[in-house]
Order: sequence, then structure tokens, then C-alpha cells
Amino acid sequence: MNIILLGAPGAGKGTEASKIVDTYKLPHISTGDIFRENIKNQTPIGVQAKSYIDQGLLVPDEVTCKIVEERISREDCKNGYMLDGFPRTIAQAEALDKSGIDIDCVLTLEVGDEEIVERLSGRLECKICGSSFHKDHRKPKAEGVCDNCGGTLRTREDDKPDVIRARLKTYYEQTAPLKEFYAKKGMLKTVIGKNEIASTSAEVLKVLGV
Ligand code: AP5
Repeated sequence: MNIILLGAPGAGKGTEASKIVDTYKLPHISTGDIFRENIKNQTPIGVQAKSYIDQGLLVPDEVTCKIVEERISREDCKNGYMLDGFPRTIAQAEALDKSGIDIDCVLTLEVGDEEIVERLSGRLECKICGSSFHKDHRKPKAEGVCDNCGGTLRTREDDKPDVIRARLKTYYEQTAPLKEFYAKKGMLKTVIGKNEIASTSAEVLKVLGV
């Protein structure tokens, strides 16, 4: 099972991807997480990615495609994987097509801009393990502390208001056209993601046929 999860920033891709990978026992490949890990470790890719991410822009296709190609060639991906945040441009989708990989389902989460701004402004991320919480919708058990590893929770650098606006602009210009790209191939499934997490997850699993 190879699944692609599309959606605007803050639509809930990471949240729903976690449920999907638990259900199907698939590796979760999030290009955003890969870049953040590289930024944390100050690798050359991390340094390059940070200069784009901090402005709400996409990391260049060549860099991103290479990372994904390497990741999906690993042993744990031989029975399938969940791509979260990739592809994000038509060029990335074409590169995926060219590599001969069969995608079983492309799922898009649809959420309005106002809700997105509210979600991203309230998101909290663990400094250590990267787990995601929300100050109202997904509260940690203890304020400011990660439920999973006890790490300190913080606001993501790219969740500042001006960067959120730039990320949304980038999404509409470069990523939203992928919906038509996959709809034309008869592969696109849509879930309205504006409801609370439990009902959105139930709908996602239903659409995937669980
Ligand atoms: P990435 O990390 O992928 O960021 P994003 O797409 O902007 O998505 P987010 O992680 O912000 O949100 P999400 O949709 O996962 O929502 P979440 O579940 O956290 O990428 C970061 C950057 O890396 C990009 O801007 C780009 O620069 C670069 N990059 C990544 N991939 C790339 C690529 N392929 N090509 C080029 N560059 C790339 O939820 C958000 C919040 O809402 C959370 O607090 C959550 O608890 C809450 N929430 C979730 N669902 C609900 C719900 N149903 N109701 C209420 N609250 C909810």
C-alpha cells in the first residue's frame, strides 16, 4: 500500500498520517520531518532547507526528490509507505511517476484558511521527538511537556503569522494543482478535514477502506 497525503499547511497531514501508519503498519515518510531532522543536526541539506522553510518557500525539487528516492529505496519500504508532504509540485509528482512507483491512493485533506491559521498558531511541537500537539485541540497531559518523551514543547519556527501566510500562498500556487493532476488519473480521494480530530481520522480510514 503506497499512499500520498496532500493538504494545505496545518490541514492535519501529520496527525492523520500517524493514524494511517499505525493502522496499516507502514513507514511514515514526511519530507517536512526529514528536513527538520537535518536542520536540527545542522547537515548541509538542513542548512539549505532552512533558508527556504523560514520564508515559507519550498525546498528545490532536486534536493527533495533525491531525499525521497533514497528513503523509499530502504528495506522497510518494500511493502509500502505513507508519503506525507510529498509530492508538493507537479515536477515532484512527475519524478515519482517516472520512477515507476505505483501509488494506490492519493488523499487530500480540505480545510479552510481561517481554521488553518488557528491550528498553526496553536500548534506545539516537541523539541526532542517532534510530536505535535495543540493548545486547545490536542492538549498535552502536562502543560508544555511532551506526552511521548517528556521533552519541552515549543512553537515551530515556521508557525509565525507572516510565514504561515507565505506557506499558504506557496500551497495554492504550487501544491494545490496536484489535486487536478491526480483527479485526472482517477486517483484522488477527498476528506473534509475541518471536523475534530477523532471524526476526521474515522473518515480518513473509511475512505481508505479500513
Ligand atoms: P511540513 O512539515 O510538511 O509542513 P506543512 O505541509 O506546512 O504541514 P504542517 O506540518 O504544518 O501541517 P500538517 O498538515 O501536518 O498538520 P498537523 O497534523 O501538524 O513541511 C515544512 C516545510 O518543509 C515546507 O513549508 C517546505 O518548505 C518544506 N517541504 C516539505 N516537504 C517538501 C516538498 N515535498 N518539497 C519542497 N519543500 C518541502 O496539524 C496542525 C495542527 O492542527 C496541530 O497542532 C494538530 O494538533 C491540529 N489538528 C490537526 N487536525 C486537527 C483537527 N481535525 N481539528 C483540530 N485540530 C487539528
